[in-house]
Amino acid sequence: MKRLLFIFFSILALNLYAQQDKPIAFSCPPYLQELGTDAVTIVWHTTKPAFSWVELAEEDGSNFQAKSRTKYYGTINGQIDAGSTIQKIRIKGLKPGTTYNYRLVSKEILNYGAYSVSYGSWVSSDNHLGKIFSFSTLPEKIEKVSFIEVSDIHNNPDKLEVMLKNGGIDNADLVLFNGDMTSEFSHESDLFDGFLKKSSDMFAATKPFLMVRGNHETRGLLSKDLMKYFPRTDNKYYFTKSYGPLFLIGLDCGEDKPDSDIAYSGLAAYDEYRTEQAEWLKKVFESSEFKNAQYKVVICHISPLGGDGWHAQNDIKEKWLPILNKAGITLMLCGHEHTFNYFKTNKEVNNFPIIIGSDKSCTRVDVSKDALTTKVIDYDGKNILMLNIK
Ligand SMILES: [Fe+2]
Repeated sequence: MKRLLFIFFSILALNLYAQQDKPIAFSCPPYLQELGTDAVTIVWHTTKPAFSWVELAEEDGSNFQAKSRTKYYGTINGQIDAGSTIQKIRIKGLKPGTTYNYRLVSKEILNYGAYSVSYGSWVSSDNHLGKIFSFSTLPEKIEKVSFIEVSDIHNNPDKLEVMLKNGGIDNADLVLFNGDMTSEFSHESDLFDGFLKKSSDMFAATKPFLMVRGNHETRGLLSKDLMKYFPRTDNKYYFTKSYGPLFLIGLDCGEDKPDSDIAYSGLAAYDEYRTEQAEWLKKVFESSEFKNAQYKVVICHISPLGGDGWHAQNDIKEKWLPILNKAGITLMLCGHEHTFNYFKTNKEVNNFPIIIGSDKSCTRVDVSKDALTTKVIDYDGKNILMLNIK
């Protein structure tokens, strides 16, 4: 028995040593957040704590390595944000409607001392991922915009790939992840292997996605840290975004059952949070940005209609639907049910159409000043709903 234990612990120690000895690597390639006319946030992840930067150059046809490029660092209250495996860098002062090439560099931090920091191996996107990435800032005047909305992927990247291809990802400007992209957030691999690596490979290194939480993103030890992975400048999960004729409103539905449910172990407080968002919605609807927008689209994981009438749905129906009904909403996009459903405008109940996407469909929305065109596309590529709103 002693001999077996000795062998077991020797193998364990050797494994740990081998892990420590490995050079730093990318644990998740880059994805863009909050891309605007003059700024973008680039996020990536490394296997070891690091000091990182982005090298950036306006696309001018020259080789990226032709000369030294400007470096950008993440900062927090005057300090360079170093020493974590989450690398997130907000780049500001960019030109509108301009294409930039970028390269990521991370240097492993071996020891973060008070008076001396020592570094180990390094990794860069061109050397280790074989790519110089690029993105384009939004133009100052946006005439048209296209986005794809999907939900309920539940850690299935192959399914996500089919859905994004069905939606025509190559000519979309933006992707909306409308909740339950992962079933829980207990380990980083839930995000990385569940949908982020696939997203980065397919589109997210060059065009952004917006994350709307579902009820499942609130589950697991790391769930409270989700904002670190999808940083927002205002630190809120609910949001508004304007893209020319389109005004987007993202609502954060919270858990589906009553806060008192045994499954939440006393740690849920979503009733109050949904009330907070109701008050926020009223202010949004008073803003000139909202009033002047041509098309107003609401994204929320849980719909106020359909389903089995669980608590969150009832709460959303009571707190949000009456406010939304008065606001002149163009369209609402939801998920959660895993089954497609469509509620036409019904003046008695919902003053705007509501689409509930299934866990295999994707919704493609093309917006110009002339029309907002919506297509729901099933897993086999067939259109199952088409709306043309003028
Ligand atoms: Fe859900």
